[in-house]
Amino acid sequence: MRKKIIIGNWKMNKDKKETENFLNEISKKKFETDKDTIYGIAVPSINIETFSLLKTNEMKISSQDISQFDSGAYTGEISSSMLKSFGVTYVVIGHSERRAYHFETNKTVNLKAVNAIKNGLVPIICVGETLDEYENKQSKEVVGKQIKESLKGLDLSKIVVAYEPVWAIGTGKTATFEYAQEICEFIHSITSKELLIQYGGSVNGSNIKDLLNQPDIDGALVGGASLEVDSFISLISK
Ligand code: PGA
Repeated sequence: MRKKIIIGNWKMNKDKKETENFLNEISKKKFETDKDTIYGIAVPSINIETFSLLKTNEMKISSQDISQFDSGAYTGEISSSMLKSFGVTYVVIGHSERRAYHFETNKTVNLKAVNAIKNGLVPIICVGETLDEYENKQSKEVVGKQIKESLKGLDLSKIVVAYEPVWAIGTGKTATFEYAQEICEFIHSITSKELLIQYGGSVNGSNIKDLLNQPDIDGALVGGASLEVDSFISLISK
């Protein structure tokens, strides 16, 4: 049976003090998680050390991006081995915001994922169609191409895919459970039944259980609702 994996994505939010406050507050809370559910947060790189020093539970640390290169003259970049040395296990790659604002292509996403796996990190590879593509009924075509090119040559047992329709991210417009299920089922049909597939896009404590009950949805990548302690706990608790 596939495990469940719930990862918060803080994006460019929280400075050092706010990161400390979140971790101090969550350390005082009592909550129970399912033993088969992996959970964690994709933290801005500059706060990963603070996060790793203060975290007191099973929370995994993820980064929000990595370099496709191992080391060298790449000003501003952060490598897989640097992240690993701070206890990072997952790395979000090809988030739609990086595809849109940093012009990342399926090819770059693939190179980053290859580099992550080579250095022992688990890539969470994001795919998803825009509103126009959704309205033009091109979702499967677009997602199929992203999957084919971004996952090229990767060992599917070493990655996670996050299906995030761009029109549902940060808009409060979650895809219907049926629609999210249909696309995640489609992704399983063109990859492997073993692949872990998250849904992302306006997930919160009230809709996560129904989403995770869908047979092809194995977890969630959550932005807004992962920023506050109580709402993060509502995502990961049993
Ligand atoms: P959201 O973001 O939960 O705020 O919609 C999801 C994401 O971008 O991963």
